[in-house]
Amino acid sequence: MGLPYRLLVRPSLRFIDSEKAHNLSVNTLTKLAENRAAQKILNSVYRTPNLPITVFGRLFRHPLGLAAGFDKSAQALGAWPALGFSWVEYGGITRYPQEGNPKPRMFRLNQDNALINRMGFNNPGAQKVREVLSKRQNAGKWPNAPIAANIGRSKTVNNDRAPNDYAETFDLLYDFADIFVLNVSSPNTPGLRELQEDSHIRDVVRACSSVRERRSGLKPMLLKFSPDLERDDLLSCAGAALSAGIDGFVATNTTISRPPPKNTSSRNFFAEQGGLSGRPLHDKSIQMIGDLYDTIGGKVPIVGCGGIESGETAWNAIKNGSSLIQLYSAMVFQGPSVVGKVTKGLKSKIEKEGFSDLQEAVGYNRS
Ligand SMILES: Cc1cc2nc3c(=O)[nH]c(=O)nc-3n(C[C@H](O)[C@H](O)[C@H](O)COP(=O)(O)O)c2cc1C
Repeated sequence: MGLPYRLLVRPSLRFIDSEKAHNLSVNTLTKLAENRAAQKILNSVYRTPNLPITVFGRLFRHPLGLAAGFDKSAQALGAWPALGFSWVEYGGITRYPQEGNPKPRMFRLNQDNALINRMGFNNPGAQKVREVLSKRQNAGKWPNAPIAANIGRSKTVNNDRAPNDYAETFDLLYDFADIFVLNVSSPNTPGLRELQEDSHIRDVVRACSSVRERRSGLKPMLLKFSPDLERDDLLSCAGAALSAGIDGFVATNTTISRPPPKNTSSRNFFAEQGGLSGRPLHDKSIQMIGDLYDTIGGKVPIVGCGGIESGETAWNAIKNGSSLIQLYSAMVFQGPSVVGKVTKGLKSKIEKEGFSDLQEAVGYNRS
């Protein structure tokens, strides 16, 4: 495990509430990352191999990015590439500022490498995030890595007005991300996941597409799925989204399902309401990545997310159809050294199994 994390971050994380621990590490990283010398040091400590892959017309140094929710308000954008991530998804951002649900709202179970959260899109709102990112851009501090923005629906807006709500946030952030992820799959905003129904999703995607046309842009728009969707509903929603102009998918968000508890502490943990992520989510996410890949057959790229924590789990996601991958929970349990562990693990898988590059392995298990 890298020295800065061991010295600066991990000691404080062990004894305090999950959300406080999280905020402390993001705040520490924010300060560090504003300093170029510190960035260089972090970069050399958290070195990652080159495993280039071109997706959405952009070159990614390797496939592993930071998943949405870690840098909710895009405050530490410079830090994540310094820790080795090749790309970063900030947010979820909603059109209006939101406090989120009452605390505590984030829980961890160390023995299962699992988290449950019911944050509820706490974020400063699209306008404020735009201002912060605009300042960063003007100060010449924009990271040299692809940046994605995760967009959610405001809590106070009902699903009939959702297309407009997403489109306004998309418009406000258009100049401040390379890729956009429409999040209709968080379990913590009432009714949100109903947007995965065909007619709703078509309207949301079309509303954002028309903003994109007006901006004469070509920036890719992805849709992020819940792992709790039935297979038929997933495929139908994916078809509707594709016909409305979506460019790719993220599979998956957190699940409201729970595995059987092993003991009292896991029974208490699993009784918390919210979305489960980390190790217990992995198989479900892989299943969904595979189902999507089989159906869309490489037509558009898939970003694999859910329980990625090692070379093995990353390889699983790639060979079942992911062109890019992301993680959140493994950062909490392993710290930033997980980025090197996953990418180095992937590199050795590619070499051992005789693939010439990463692209060749995408979807290999499905063919
Ligand atoms: C505390 C927390 C907050 C999250 N917030 C968001 C969010 O705002 N938008 C989103 O699309 N996903 C959000 N996620 C889901 C993650 O991006 C990811 O899809 C999920 O955690 C599965 O990956 P993992 O098993 O590597 O954690 C959040 C996850 C956690 C644990």
